[in-house]
Amino acid sequence: MSILNTVSYTWTTYRKLGNFPINSEHNANILPNGVIVYIGGIEQVFYGATFTLVNMHKIKLFNTNTLEWSRKNATGVEIDLRLYFSSVLSEL
Ligand SMILES: *[C@@H]1O[C@H](CO)[C@@H](O)[C@H](O)[C@H]1NC(C)=O
Repeated sequence: MSILNTVSYTWTTYRKLGNFPINSEHNANILPNGVIVYIGGIEQVFYGATFTLVNMHKIKLFNTNTLEWSRKNATGVEIDLRLYFSSVLSEL
């Protein structure tokens, strides 16, 4: 993960993925509490494996305060698999 510090405008790289797959072509939004929500796209479960589309109910979270990854299972209607898409964070 490449991180741009927008105070000093310095790039750093964060490499701690743990057992989390490498994601690509996903969508991400940051919540006001500092948690980044990753949705969809493709993932490579282990290095060298084939990239596969991510189930839209399988949500990955990265907490920018603790630098920890976690997962959530979303519920609700079926959403078609997708990549190269956008989303908007809103409070309804
Ligand atoms: C999400 O659901 C899967 C089964 O489909 C389960 O194995 C996994 O533990 C669940 N993850 C969470 C964070 O609840």
